[in-house]
Amino acid sequence: MKNISIYNTFIHPTAFQKVNEVLHSTFLSEGKKVQEFESQLSSYLGIINPLAVNSGTTALHLALDIAGINEGDEVILPSQTFVATGLVILQQKATPVFADINYDDGNISVESIKQKITAKTKAIICVHWGGYPCDMDEILAIAKEFNLIVIEDAAHALGAVYKNNCIGSLSDYTCFSFQAIKHITTGDGGAIAFKDKSKHNEGYAKRWFGINRDTATQTELGERNYNIETLGYKYHLNDYSASLGIANLLEFKERLSHREQIVNLYNKGLENTNGIKLFNYKTDRQSANWLYGFHVENRLNFIKKLKSQNITASVIHQRIDRNKVFGGITPHLINQEKFDLSQIHIPIHDNITIDDANYIIETIKTGW
Ligand SMILES: Cc1ncc(COP(=O)(O)O)c(C=O)c1O
Repeated sequence: MKNISIYNTFIHPTAFQKVNEVLHSTFLSEGKKVQEFESQLSSYLGIINPLAVNSGTTALHLALDIAGINEGDEVILPSQTFVATGLVILQQKATPVFADINYDDGNISVESIKQKITAKTKAIICVHWGGYPCDMDEILAIAKEFNLIVIEDAAHALGAVYKNNCIGSLSDYTCFSFQAIKHITTGDGGAIAFKDKSKHNEGYAKRWFGINRDTATQTELGERNYNIETLGYKYHLNDYSASLGIANLLEFKERLSHREQIVNLYNKGLENTNGIKLFNYKTDRQSANWLYGFHVENRLNFIKKLKSQNITASVIHQRIDRNKVFGGITPHLINQEKFDLSQIHIPIHDNITIDDANYIIETIKTGW
């Protein structure tokens, strides 16, 4: 019997040829393929002013840097995320302030954001948990009222849609991840969508040491002519990664539809199952369905039962605020605490067939 894993790495069949061409060209670093990848993120998915970088974490860090988050600033974020979301705040010497989540979907709670705002608050990072968009209208309204910057951590949400607008078109900065097990991989990689084109231009230089490759032209001496004014980083994506990304973008929407089909099966098959409480998703937005999560009773038994039937079920990311690096002071987050005790995720990805999904549902239905 085959093992049904929780994640997969998707490589489009055309990727081998495309990456091969770049390797043969010997132009491996940032260049034409990166531009082509960015322009497809924009034309195919509607992402505004995309800037490709070498990970989701560097996307978040660069966004915070360009947003001017510094020492003394507070940044509100959910604890239900991967550590990267919080670590980048520390990298800027700012203070992470952990807000509660909605028990029903794992996204940051709008009410909790309001309670966490102080005179020092500079930004809100919201994470679209599992690919399901946060309450963006409310978050953007709070940001407007208190003059805060909004940074979306859309590591799980490539292709998600909020009220007919794609994630990557709504707020100041939206950060994507193209790490190995994400919807689209470039090996490792990421991108920032910028609402403001001038911020994009800043990012363009900052992702490569602070040097603008277009204006820092080569002199007769052979060296580029530049005088770096602000701190930059080596965060650019390279061309062979971008060519993998370009290949993986092919038929991406069909792949999203496949995920949706599996989700519909799970929703129908698992509703009203004793010991399970499904997440409650609103119909005004479309999840990218990177994860399929819900709440379960007797979680360890559930995991063991599925494992005995060759199915991996897993807790995905435990609250991050309890990591010592964040200061060891964990706020009382009522929904987060409840969420932690019962959240579980079952496999959803390109290799999950309709038969697999039905088998998983039937296995769960036999109890644990
Ligand atoms: C919510 C979230 N944010 C950020 C990241 C960081 O992305 P990357 O691994 O591409 O640096 C991840 C990675 O899995 C993530 O799950």
